[in-house]
Amino acid sequence: MEKRAEKKRIVLVPLPLQGHITPMMQLGQALNSKGFSITVFLGEFNRISSSKHFPGFQFITIPEILPVAEVEAIGPVEFLIKLNKTSEASFKDCVSQMLIQQGNDIACIIYDDLMYFCGAAANEFKVPSIIFCTTSATHKVCNYVLSKLNAEKFLIDMEDPDLQNKVVENLHPVSFKDLPIGGFEPLERFLVLCREIITKRSACGAIINTVSCLESSSLTLLQQELGISVYPLGPLHITTKETSSLLEEDRSCIEWLNKQKPRSVIYISMGSIFDIETKEVLEMANGLCDSNQPFLWVIRPGSKPLPEEVSKMVSEKGFIVKWAPQNEVLAHPAVGGFWSHCGWNSTLESIAEGVPMICRPFNGEQKLNAMYIESVWRIGILLQGEVERGGVERAVKRLIMDEEGASMRERALVLKEKFNASVSSGGSSYNALNELVNYLETEGK
Ligand code: UDX
Repeated sequence: MEKRAEKKRIVLVPLPLQGHITPMMQLGQALNSKGFSITVFLGEFNRISSSKHFPGFQFITIPEILPVAEVEAIGPVEFLIKLNKTSEASFKDCVSQMLIQQGNDIACIIYDDLMYFCGAAANEFKVPSIIFCTTSATHKVCNYVLSKLNAEKFLIDMEDPDLQNKVVENLHPVSFKDLPIGGFEPLERFLVLCREIITKRSACGAIINTVSCLESSSLTLLQQELGISVYPLGPLHITTKETSSLLEEDRSCIEWLNKQKPRSVIYISMGSIFDIETKEVLEMANGLCDSNQPFLWVIRPGSKPLPEEVSKMVSEKGFIVKWAPQNEVLAHPAVGGFWSHCGWNSTLESIAEGVPMICRPFNGEQKLNAMYIESVWRIGILLQGEVERGGVERAVKRLIMDEEGASMRERALVLKEKFNASVSSGGSSYNALNELVNYLETEGK
């Protein structure tokens, strides 16, 4: 008990997007359960609807942080560059006020890898810092590879199919065409961002929400590239229960799931940012209805509504919610498959419940995850090119009714067991968390 009382405050700075806030809050809960006090810095625009569920957490607003709506206006690359430029001064003000008011008790600033302005602030206050990577280790290594490329030459090289299919050194099975650049145009600016993230980094460790059984060779490479301690302690959501949704969860879908047959339902969600084109929604809706399998579909507020011609049919055959309690849905016995954009959180959450996937990624990082889901872990079906209703119907049937889908589910269940072992006493993630805690207790200020 005495030792607990000595433990100090950890400052957490997530990137202000749902897919990054969620794992950061889970990390906060993991560290809080080890006795650390937690302060979370968030933008004004993304208060967590359930912040009351995090007793003992302190929430501080960084006034100057960019509203997320800017992502749509200027694109993700310029958003991140601008966010890092505009937030540094006000973050420093907030931290110095905190130090004056609460005493000099910050053990460490843990910041999202993409919020690299925090590195400079931590240096100025002589507080240790650690980066938190919310995507896969393979993705981080790919960004290192990209940071060393010349944009113009790379784009010319990529016109040659042989070079497209060439495997990136030490990173089998990732080939140059898999490097996660799609959606982050123009490439030149994206490479500027990749370099900024690396050069502005002053952290003495890197936490990553992954599990070594998924990508151990990428973790080894990441460790070599970073040259600092790497703590792969995922999947963080398994050991923490509180939700950190920015939207209210609609639990009526659980009652609907309770009425469905075991492993019959396809759950559809495209995460918290991306929106599907109306033409594709129409094909999806028709294909799903033609498959005759029940489906639960998340259509977020603000995304394109269902076209009128399918709206009635969809609400008869499926169930629509604005935002679901995703982990509870995936754990439900009625769910047989997950149609996902393959964001890293959704990928980990699906595997953690042994649910096979239909992969429909939007951008580069999700495409990389989808490639691993289909070809490396072999727990999903990748839908490429234009989506049409016949292809949707076939994919749903393959996943839910065919032998092929059953084998994918078996492999996903094996990974689920490995996930559980990794967070249990003596497991890789369990040990990584304890090593991190040990570092924060002994080295942290
Ligand atoms: C973004 C990027 O798109 C993704 O590629 C990156 O890996 C993380 O940042 P996002 O698109 O939101 O994230 O996807 P994802 O990583 O899957 O995160 C979505 C989160 O929202 C998940 O934790 C999921 O459980 C949650 N969610 C989604 C809900 O709780 N309810 C829903 O209805 C839908």
